[in-house]
Amino acid sequence: MNAKLSANQRAHELVSAMTIDQKIAMLSQSQPVDAHYGAAGFVPGQPALCIPDLVLNDAGQGVGDAQLNTTAFPAPIAQSSSWDPALQWRFGAALGWQAWHKGINVQLAPGVEIDRVPLNGRNFEYMSEDPYLAAQGAVAEVRGIQSNPVIATVKHYVANSQETNRMTVSSDVDQRTLEEIYAAPYEAAVKQGNAGSVMCSYNRINGTYACENRDTLTTILKRQFGFTGFVMSDWGATHSTVPAANAGLDMEMDVKPGQYFTAPLKTAVQDGQVPMSRLDDMVTRIVRPMFAVGIFDHPAAAEPAAAAVNVQRPQDIALARSLSESGTVLLKNQGQLLPLTGNGKRIAVIGPGAGPAGAQQFYNGAGSGHIPEFGAKSDVVTPLQGITQRALSDGDVVTYADGSSAAAASLVGETADVAIVFAGSQDSEGVDRSTLDLSSGNCSFVVCTPQPVDQDSLISQVAAANPHTIVVLNTGGPVLMPWLNQVQGLFEAWYPGQQDGNAIAALLFGDVDPSAKLPETFPASQSDLPTRTPQQYPGVNDAAGIPHATYSEGMLVGYRWYDAKHITPLFPFGFGLTYTTFALRGLHLSAGRGRPALANATFTVADAGPRLGAEVAQLYISDPRNAGEPPKQLKGFEKVLLKPGARTKVKLAIDFRALAHWSDSAHRWKVGSGCYRVLAGDSSSNLPLSATIAVGGARCKGAKLHVSNALLRRAARGHTT
Ligand code: BGC
Repeated sequence: MNAKLSANQRAHELVSAMTIDQKIAMLSQSQPVDAHYGAAGFVPGQPALCIPDLVLNDAGQGVGDAQLNTTAFPAPIAQSSSWDPALQWRFGAALGWQAWHKGINVQLAPGVEIDRVPLNGRNFEYMSEDPYLAAQGAVAEVRGIQSNPVIATVKHYVANSQETNRMTVSSDVDQRTLEEIYAAPYEAAVKQGNAGSVMCSYNRINGTYACENRDTLTTILKRQFGFTGFVMSDWGATHSTVPAANAGLDMEMDVKPGQYFTAPLKTAVQDGQVPMSRLDDMVTRIVRPMFAVGIFDHPAAAEPAAAAVNVQRPQDIALARSLSESGTVLLKNQGQLLPLTGNGKRIAVIGPGAGPAGAQQFYNGAGSGHIPEFGAKSDVVTPLQGITQRALSDGDVVTYADGSSAAAASLVGETADVAIVFAGSQDSEGVDRSTLDLSSGNCSFVVCTPQPVDQDSLISQVAAANPHTIVVLNTGGPVLMPWLNQVQGLFEAWYPGQQDGNAIAALLFGDVDPSAKLPETFPASQSDLPTRTPQQYPGVNDAAGIPHATYSEGMLVGYRWYDAKHITPLFPFGFGLTYTTFALRGLHLSAGRGRPALANATFTVADAGPRLGAEVAQLYISDPRNAGEPPKQLKGFEKVLLKPGARTKVKLAIDFRALAHWSDSAHRWKVGSGCYRVLAGDSSSNLPLSATIAVGGARCKGAKLHVSNALLRRAARGHTT
């Protein structure tokens, strides 16, 4: 308990004082899921050794599981749409604070898996189809959580892209794709964020379960990334004692008390099947981050009192609202119908997502990320409430139809100046969506609530009755929009959390300027998806009956696929409108020192429109053709808030990894010589600024900057994503 020593020293001192039984007791949970005051996991403390309880709890959209009186923030996909890591840090910090006051000291978040398949029922729990964007969010959230005496758990490691057959499917993925796309957000969370814990996933990777996969756990995560914390299994993802322990799993978690990392592990250690040094390593890895984040020195609130406590602070509720405002993407605004201005308007609010019943369903996704997991929350502001209250101040009149009858809804819409239709689907852990459209319902594995109506047809009918129709979507991922040409306005609000109604009202009425951008491509048709064959998704069984999902699209995930195949999506990655307009000008490249920047890209962003607003300036790199990379990839961004007429300079660093690719033959990251194009703009499909960097002596037409091999060598050391 000497706080002057380093976490590492304290961990080693502690482990060297432990008996084998005391060590084993750290490695699994003693009670079934939720038994300890509604938390998913509980590893009892050992007072004789001053080891506090470990209380592990879900946290995708707030402090979840069966915890009451916590804040339901917007879903991670909505947070990521803000392209604002500083805001994501604040989310992490609030999450950790609420957790600690609930007696929780391990958060089972953030989810950083790459959104490979838009049908994935857990799409909403993750951050993006792009590893760079997901990495920035992951680092911010981990740092925010661990600014409290609480450990963050990055999940679900790795290539955990679908819920169909989630317990058995093998994700068959090549090494380069694994390194460049799927493992990259974990790498950043571990190297830059210092995440204390990583959760291995249910699926197999190349035939071996993720929680007993030596390649991913030991070779990549622990050796290559230098991860010094612990790997816990997803609940029920441990399948063995000796193979799992020797492959690199450190903690068994399950819905029932531990069965592999208990007495069988003790026997395996005594028999020499698992070395004692490995057992020591497992325990050291668990207690080291406990010391590092302060769990020993600042014990979490004690139960049973903590279970009942209301941990919501006014600033948390305000944060939930600003996250939702910043994460709701404006996708269409024909004829500048939005924001709603003027007085005395007649506003029709329509649809299952707007009223009390629907909002309970759509404010966040289902499964272990839901707040609270099994129940309703009483302080959710519905869109109907939020809009009605805001409309009052403009003297507007709001009418409402729940959308259960399209004919009745059209009638309400017809007599209004503007009709706002809320449509959505409640995606869930445990089950994938069967289609990308909104015509049929979705059943989550927790609750089965099929939509009462065909929402595509509802929107179409309302739009036919009122030309000024706005759609607000509450979905966990991309959807198809057969009615898009009929409507004038469109928002994607994802799962906006408990401040749903206030946030959407602020955006509709222009109290806040929309500033979010899509973290995922919206396809025009389901047949355009990168995963087109059953072999890719959901996978086909091998002779032994094991399903295999073959990642044959390789690195062509999301916009990388659409670019490479010249397919125009419905809405591209990085796209989102605002109520003002921005101009980007004058891309300039300057030399960096190699650690970390090889080069810096500078350009001006100006608010050329009439309103205060925020723009997300985006930087992509297009590698030389012989590198074998996708056409272009996001490598930098910055969100800037500007007053009308104001301008600012954005400076984005281009580091080693921005130009590097994974070399299978060299087994490391490499930057080849050649001409690298730097592209900047406001979405992946609008990149008006460009310049070329000549690398390693390459001769490139019009190159603005040369990067020497000597600088590359300096930059190659100690890089991260
Ligand atoms: C989920 C995890 C979650 C765990 C504990 C599992 O079913 O996949 O994301 O952390 O349960 O609730």
